[in-house]
Amino acid sequence: MRRLSNVPTAGLVLAFLTVIATVAIAQGRQGATTGNPEARQLKNPVAAAPESIAAGRQAFQKFCAACHNKDAKGDGPLAPKDSHPPNLIDNVWAYGSSDGEIFTVIKDGATAPKSEMKAFKSRLTAEEIWNVVNYLRSLAKP
Ligand code: HEC
Repeated sequence: MRRLSNVPTAGLVLAFLTVIATVAIAQGRQGATTGNPEARQLKNPVAAAPESIAAGRQAFQKFCAACHNKDAKGDGPLAPKDSHPPNLIDNVWAYGSSDGEIFTVIKDGATAPKSEMKAFKSRLTAEEIWNVVNYLRSLAKP
């Protein structure tokens, strides 16, 4: 008898956990796709001309490759332990996929607490950051 009466309780606990997990996953996804609506309004003022892409490549190799890897596919050799810098040429963008959102993460750093993605506004001019955005876009093209 005792055993049987435990079955519904276990079922309830399982249902409860399922609800919690579903909500957590939904929130995680939302965080990953909401991005930064204000930054999305920013228009890229620098044409993706060969000079811009070349300058962006230089800046990227100097300032970003240690963490994001030379090919921008993430998990660079000198990335801080467990920080896992993401791939920057796939379609997954935790902070938004528009040029303006990518620009803003580079300029101001990631908003996640204690993130290893620091602001670059003291080291790169706005134009240099747009060049990097253009370079990343050029790599992402098939
Ligand atoms: C010290 C390591 C480090 C360096 C250097 C670094 N990054 Fe990052 N970057 C990260 C990490 C870690 C994240 C993940 C951010 C998070 O969620 O906390 C990240 C996230 C990003 C994102 C957001 C990606 C997304 O999914 O939305 C962009 C864009 C980015 N970096 C670009 C750059 C560029 C461009 C440079 C060079 C100017 C650079 N990073 C330099 C570690 C680094």
